[in-house]
Amino acid sequence: MEKTNIAIVGLGTVGTGVAKLLLDHGDRTSRHAGRTLWLKKAVVRDLDKPRDVDLPDGVATDSLDDVINDPEISVVAQLIGGLEPARSIMLRLLESGKDIVTANKALLAEHGPELFTRARELGRSIAFEASVAGGIPIIANVSQCLSANQIRSLEGILNGTSNFIVTQMDEKGAPYDVVVRKAQELGYAEADPTMDVDGTDAAQKLAILAHLAFGATVDWSDIPRMGIDGLDPDDLRYSRQLGYRIKLLALANLADDGLELSVAPTLVRIGTPLAEVRDAFNAIRVVGDAVGPVFYHGLGAGQMPTASAVVADLIDTAVGRTRLTFQTLEYFSIDNPPRAKLRDADTLVGRNYLRLSVSNHPGTLASITSVLAKHKISIASVMQHESENGSTHLDPVPLVIMTHEATEGAARAATQEIEALDSITGPVVRLRVKD
Ligand code: NAP
Ligand code: HSE
Repeated sequence: MEKTNIAIVGLGTVGTGVAKLLLDHGDRTSRHAGRTLWLKKAVVRDLDKPRDVDLPDGVATDSLDDVINDPEISVVAQLIGGLEPARSIMLRLLESGKDIVTANKALLAEHGPELFTRARELGRSIAFEASVAGGIPIIANVSQCLSANQIRSLEGILNGTSNFIVTQMDEKGAPYDVVVRKAQELGYAEADPTMDVDGTDAAQKLAILAHLAFGATVDWSDIPRMGIDGLDPDDLRYSRQLGYRIKLLALANLADDGLELSVAPTLVRIGTPLAEVRDAFNAIRVVGDAVGPVFYHGLGAGQMPTASAVVADLIDTAVGRTRLTFQTLEYFSIDNPPRAKLRDADTLVGRNYLRLSVSNHPGTLASITSVLAKHKISIASVMQHESENGSTHLDPVPLVIMTHEATEGAARAATQEIEALDSITGPVVRLRVKD
């Protein structure tokens, strides 16, 4: 049987999973590839660091040159995170004639055009299924399986760590810091989990998907985003009482006047598919003009789900499928169409959840509702409980208001005005609502 020699660069959570699949399940990979995928080298920084996989003698090396200078190695799974040295290493590997498989969405979102253009110039390919939504084959689906469609919208949960954190806080009352540490231990979080919890990782993934779905270049940093890092457990509780769960939702909608893109914690109605996505699972609802809505659900983070996507890309690259796709689809070309035209965020329409801390005296509610009325925002429901600790009517109490649809501009202006009222004792929490 023919053999394709593979190298892994970066033997962390994902790299270790890829090594396990290649070493323990060679029968599977050879059946699908019609050839043996042979793990020849695994580049690590520290040869003495214990690894969770038994590598055959001679496979581990701390020298990238052992891969660069080996013409028998044709495909490299580049599985180190961050921008540098990941970018320079990828360029060196491409220049030494290797095809690349990567899971590094931060690198692609930031340097995609440069890396893809260089790969094309060199006649090489870059496969990146694992970069978005872990084990869900969403890259192949959006760029190949749904290619007869004009995609109208994408909406989904794209960060497993955030979804894990919110689920654990919501269902088990677990403290935020404890769950972040657990997400790190379980291998879901980035080396710096800030990128997970502040919405950056989801925005980078949305930028990649939007590029593939809408054919326009999107700079991830232009996407309005808010993470779950400031989420108050009270909002999880009140949302549940109102029949919703809070999810970090990434949205892309194509309209006549441009593209709406956002990442934000959103109240999603309990019972709808997105509200039932728990822990490190991701889900994406794609609407195409021919196919209609399609829903994908699966583990979006973690060692083996991500390794599943990387190894599928290794097989596709070894048999030549990636090269065909890479050459025919204009991924991240520097000559690509101009940047996507983003819609004016102020004109977007949606419902809002408002939580206010108010002084408990006559006229407070009237002053708030008059501000909302002034901005033509209609109230759908109001929830105010009595003080929980038997305190006096002078203590602040939480007031939760659900609005009907309003423009983002009106909702923001009204929130600022409400915050300035004397009866409001702290910042107003405003979250998007999706029915
Ligand atoms: P990780 O556990 O931190 O592993 C990264 C590995 O790269 C570490 O073992 C690190 O070595 C190694 N490394 C860093 N610089 C290196 C260098 N110059 N030479 C050789 N090795 C080097 O990260 P991960 O979770 O596997 O993630 C890897 C990539 O996959 C990231 O881009 C991440 O965003 C992406 N991803 C991860 C998941 C997930 O669930 N974890 C899912 C999808 C995508 P040390 O061990 O010495 O630090
Ligand atoms: N840190 C990422 C997440 C890994 O939690 O979704 C998958 O890209």
